[in-house]
Amino acid sequence: MIARALARGAPRPYRSAVARFLVTGGAGFIGSHVVEYLLRLREQVVVLDDLSSGRRENLAPLGERVQVVLGDVRDPAACAEAVRGADFVLHLAALTSVPRSVAEPAATFDVNATGTLRVLEAARAAKAKRVVLASSSSVYGDSAVSPKVETLPPNPLSPYAASKLAAEGLAQAWARSLGVPTIALRFFNVFGPRQDPKSQYAAVVPRFVTAMLSGGTPIVYGDGKQTRDFTYVENAVQALVLAVRQGVPGSVYNVAGGKATTVLDLLGMIAKAAGAKARAERQPARPGDILHSHADVAKARKELGFAPSVDVAEGIRRTVEWYRRETRPGVAPAGPATVAGPSAMAGPGGPQPTIEG
Ligand SMILES: NC(=O)c1ccc[n+]([C@@H]2O[C@H](COP(=O)([O-])OP(=O)(O)OC[C@H]3O[C@@H](n4cnc5c(N)ncnc54)[C@H](O)[C@@H]3O)[C@@H](O)[C@H]2O)c1
Repeated sequence: MIARALARGAPRPYRSAVARFLVTGGAGFIGSHVVEYLLRLREQVVVLDDLSSGRRENLAPLGERVQVVLGDVRDPAACAEAVRGADFVLHLAALTSVPRSVAEPAATFDVNATGTLRVLEAARAAKAKRVVLASSSSVYGDSAVSPKVETLPPNPLSPYAASKLAAEGLAQAWARSLGVPTIALRFFNVFGPRQDPKSQYAAVVPRFVTAMLSGGTPIVYGDGKQTRDFTYVENAVQALVLAVRQGVPGSVYNVAGGKATTVLDLLGMIAKAAGAKARAERQPARPGDILHSHADVAKARKELGFAPSVDVAEGIRRTVEWYRRETRPGVAPAGPATVAGPSAMAGPGGPQPTIEG
């Protein structure tokens, strides 16, 4: 599907010869999927990652075809080393959790905003042809307008959202004043294989999936009627590659499946795919969580040729299958991203799954 989308439209800026990509955060969930895809296109890929939430195992199956620079995006020397010779930069490294940002606001701003500044400066010095930045739907905050369109005034609620908005602002200014062609993609709740279910800040889909596969009870914060525009990771990868190819410098684009799903409906879909009961423990809503999030993806469709190819139900089916395979008792995790075995996951005595809401 991605190949078909890429086959359309204007010539790719990087097809005439092998291109070199720097992927910051490339050992993480979305990053490792992008790296894998770029290698399938036979591009050269360098990853800059400090492995704070990413894992070596996410890249292990790709072997020596990917060069990993272990380092921090806040470190100018690490950025300079990683970006050397790069045609394109995909900047995904970040502290990604809303609750964590409430607990650690300064650290979140430091990595997400100052880290972006360092990456932009390194890309400028290296004369990179495009920098695509992973921003977030959280910048819309609790705006009552739905679906969210890029022209809405941003309204960040959490330190995470504020840090992402700051990063977008830097990217836009570097495009307008300093000649760095930047594009920001506002991702809406991306999910899929390799998303970490174990962190105390883990996102809702891996938490629900691993809980249900191991007989645990997921926790729903609030009434469960909050909505999210869940986006299968293959759709996010498609958008990143299309943005490199034809994103308009200085622009932001929503990237989502384009459909609102309630958390309770999500629970039902996962239960069905996992063959489990759709029951959950209720807890009060959490600070910084927003109620409704649904994207208008018309701009990305029009300017990037973005066409989400995997809907939520199919994405959930694939995701559940992946976790089921990876967590089968007695089977060593074969693919990237090991996940905990059943005994380490939710269930009596184990850590309880939560929902980002
Ligand atoms: N997953 C989603 O639903 C979602 C939604 C909106 C935006 N995003 C954005 O997409 C990007 C990727 O998110 P993800 O879900 O793959 O998260 P992830 O935690 O799996 O990946 C983040 C990666 O960044 C690395 N990293 C963190 N701090 C670093 C630092 N200081 N220096 C170098 N590397 C560092 C981590 O080790 C990890 O590999 C992030 O920028 C995130 O804010 C994700």
